Amino acid sequence: MPAKSGFPWAGPPVLEKRRPSAATALDPVFMSKHGAIPRPLTSGTGTGLKGRIRVPGDKSISHRALMLGALALGETEIHGLLEGEDVLRTAAAMRQLGGSAEKGADGIWRARGRGNGGLAEASDVLDLGNAGTGTRLLMGLVAAYPMTTFFTGDASLRSRPMARVADPLRQMGASFVTRSNGRPPLAVIGTANPVPITYKLPVASAQVKSAILLAGLNTPGNTTVIEPEHTRDHTELMLRGFGVDIRVEETPEGRASSITGQPELKGRRIIVPGDPSSAAFPIVAALILPGSDIVIENVGLNPHRIGLIDSLLEMGGAIEIQNARVEAGEKVGDLHVRHSHLRGITVPASRAPSMIDEYPILSVAAAFAEGETRMLGLAELRVKESDRLGAMARGLAACGVSVEEGEDWLGVTGNGKRPRGGAHIAVNLDHRPAMSFLVLGLGAEKPVSIDDGSPIDTSFPGFSDLMNGMGAAIRLQNR
Ligand code: S3P
Repeated sequence: MPAKSGFPWAGPPVLEKRRPSAATALDPVFMSKHGAIPRPLTSGTGTGLKGRIRVPGDKSISHRALMLGALALGETEIHGLLEGEDVLRTAAAMRQLGGSAEKGADGIWRARGRGNGGLAEASDVLDLGNAGTGTRLLMGLVAAYPMTTFFTGDASLRSRPMARVADPLRQMGASFVTRSNGRPPLAVIGTANPVPITYKLPVASAQVKSAILLAGLNTPGNTTVIEPEHTRDHTELMLRGFGVDIRVEETPEGRASSITGQPELKGRRIIVPGDPSSAAFPIVAALILPGSDIVIENVGLNPHRIGLIDSLLEMGGAIEIQNARVEAGEKVGDLHVRHSHLRGITVPASRAPSMIDEYPILSVAAAFAEGETRMLGLAELRVKESDRLGAMARGLAACGVSVEEGEDWLGVTGNGKRPRGGAHIAVNLDHRPAMSFLVLGLGAEKPVSIDDGSPIDTSFPGFSDLMNGMGAAIRLQNR
């Protein structure tokens, strides 16, 4: 790792540690809003990034692998599982529901399933931490069982809307007790006699689609989800890999995915690719830092996940896909990224589902570009782990960037030079703005700090060390 001394703001190196034990987390002296020791971080002008790296496994695929593995007959081997907080919470929840999910001494995770229909009632509340995906998909899974399941999570999760999942599941026969506005903590009172439905998604959401399909697994008859806008299809691809007959067809109303309930799932080998939503951070860092030349190996390139790459290419980014291949049903490739002069573009609303988690980091790329980047159709950003539209608009403005914020759009105007930076940003338990502002700080005139880097562990454990290994300068902030 290149030496990084001499920065007046430099603190000790970032030794990233797992979140504290339950005992430490309960100590009010150490406890932040989400039960982890706050980790304030600062990033300052880094050199150009160099190196070949791999980012941790895909979060969406990891959640699904643990859930479906627990339903399959025989063993499911999961290679490259993301060992982030969110996914570890799902592993724990599957164990509470009677499944198994353990990491072997060889580093491979294994789930030994109980068979489709074989889940058992959990004897305690499922605490999904920060994980909206884990919560929503599991709500679907347990809805078609005659048992009651309680869900809770951190302050961010407890503020997130769950009616979008509860509404269709109610039509299938489940009932719910929730806090006001459908927020957790909540209880899913599953049904012994689930009814198959055909449901047209009112919001473009892979989580809602997946929750319904997972409920359909233990429901007799055909369950169909129609999506007017295409969202990520990891659930469909993985179900097919487990031997489930899933039919996907284009209809005048949208893409329809149907399963016939109560199939047998056969244990399989899953290879989890690197998460494109995590690769997004080193990609943008390399584009904005002069002299950068990096390769990110083994990145998932599912066509419904690569809207950011399309947008950055349009902005003039030097990103080359090498070694494109298909592994365990998912497209994968290596990305060669070099520093580039970026230009502002308009990102159409139709692209939002394929890059929904990438707007925070795209807005950072836009701050370094010449001209305005206008991002449309962003209403869903308001209900992510935090209000990401508001968070990015406020944080970028504090860093001296010219920003315009609409109800569902964001305009960021750069002048092709480094933004000023020099701000302290509260990340509100949200990993993606946290990493985005650290990347901004690497290229800005003045260092940028965030109040708490610990939420980064939900999706990208080892982020700071991986970036620093390529020449970045992200440090624990002196307190
Ligand atoms: C996910 C779908 C997206 C995304 C989330 C993961 C998934 O959410 O933002 O990080 O794994 O299905 P929505 O389905 O709410 O758009």
